[in-house]
Amino acid sequence: MSTTVYGLDFGTTNTAVAITRNGSAEVLPIGAGGTATIPSLAFFPEYGRGYQIGQNAIDGYLGSEMNGRLLQSVKSFLPDPGFKGTAVGGQLGYASIEKLIGILIKFVKQQADAHMGEEVTDVIIGRPALFSDDPERDALAEKRLVDAARYAGFEHIQVQKEPIAAAFEYERSLDREEIAFIADFGGGTSDFTIMRLGPEHVTRPDRADDILGVDGVYVGGNNFDSSIMWRRLIRYFGSESESKDWDRWLPMPRHLMQDLCRWQRITFLKDRKTREYMKKLLKTSNDPESIKRLIALIEENLGFSVFQAIEKAKHDLSQHETTSVIFNESVIEIEERISRQEFEEMSCEHIQKIEICIDELLTTSQIALEQVDTVFVTGGTSYIPAVRRVLSDRFGDGKIRTGDAFISVAAGLALGGSTGAGSLA
Ligand SMILES: Nc1ncnc2c1ncn2[C@@H]1O[C@H](COP(=O)(O)OP(=O)(O)OP(=O)(O)O)[C@@H](O)[C@H]1O
Ligand SMILES: [Mg+2]
Repeated sequence: MSTTVYGLDFGTTNTAVAITRNGSAEVLPIGAGGTATIPSLAFFPEYGRGYQIGQNAIDGYLGSEMNGRLLQSVKSFLPDPGFKGTAVGGQLGYASIEKLIGILIKFVKQQADAHMGEEVTDVIIGRPALFSDDPERDALAEKRLVDAARYAGFEHIQVQKEPIAAAFEYERSLDREEIAFIADFGGGTSDFTIMRLGPEHVTRPDRADDILGVDGVYVGGNNFDSSIMWRRLIRYFGSESESKDWDRWLPMPRHLMQDLCRWQRITFLKDRKTREYMKKLLKTSNDPESIKRLIALIEENLGFSVFQAIEKAKHDLSQHETTSVIFNESVIEIEERISRQEFEEMSCEHIQKIEICIDELLTTSQIALEQVDTVFVTGGTSYIPAVRRVLSDRFGDGKIRTGDAFISVAAGLALGGSTGAGSLA
């Protein structure tokens, strides 16, 4: 029987798997070309059978002229009792949320098993500090995640909070005891823990006493993307247009524009009622060009590509003071210049939520800023300068240590498993 245990970080945006070998973590090359992560995406072609996962899903989607369903950020639906599953066409027809995540994990497991040359049935899977403030929803999300792992072929499944896993990874670099503040800024959530770490603690099977506090908030990279759409791009799709209804001019419905800010929701706008409304708008709008763009966005499934352009601009702004969102497809031509300062203004509500969560965690854990020896930062959204500033403003630059943004959690999940401290959730 295999004694290997996978540490599986199923992220809102990216997924990674690690094992422990000779006391240190090794991240497995599960991605195309041997990369350590795959995008957490599944594509179901409209016609034919089967589905594709990860980078293959993106290639399949774009290669099929966007005919089919591309599902992203499925993790964020886990705590939603109303989202039980969705129609995906192709082989599966209708898939429950457990199955949607299950096939993603199954793909990752197959890649990892092929690399290991054995079938591994034990896994420690990460979960955010908080799936939901509501304990019932939180429990539902965790149960769904465990069921998805079981669907994928795992038999012994443990769950660990992602920031605690990141702490385990950071702990390996320590040669003395310290109190560390761990921050993991992902695509869907920002998660934190305050822990007592050190070489003496590593081998303790029960780490509960070392955890001084854990908390998280539903703010991640997706929210920053949505803000760019909301503040700068919806006007291309008619947000400022009006349509004539008898003798009155009516504004564009706000909920429609809000739906554009999450590209997955754009797919849901293809229903008959919305289509008829669009036809009417085309005739009655004072800006029919913007309505044509809106129709193209929805009917030609361009939401994903628009959001890729937004994400690229967001990444640019982590390095440069200004950039442009550039998109040219079908009738949509966008060139929108954004400065870092403007980006920070439009995303200040997300930064505030992160600040509140961090300050409350320090208060409830009864840890003063001076007691924190170091701050370990990981996750893709930690590249945003304004996000890092939240930490440096509080703790000072000197205390900040940076981990690998995309693999620290998977590595820490595997390490926690090897010491028996795997499941504390
Ligand atoms: N250079 C960058 N600048 C800004 N954001 C970035 C950068 N690189 C990646 N990101 C963002 O990081 C996010 C993905 O980070 P990560 O892989 O840590 O998330 P995840 O683990 O999948 O999500 P979660 O932990 O919330 O479930 C995406 O929103 C992505 O746009
Ligand atoms: Mg993550």
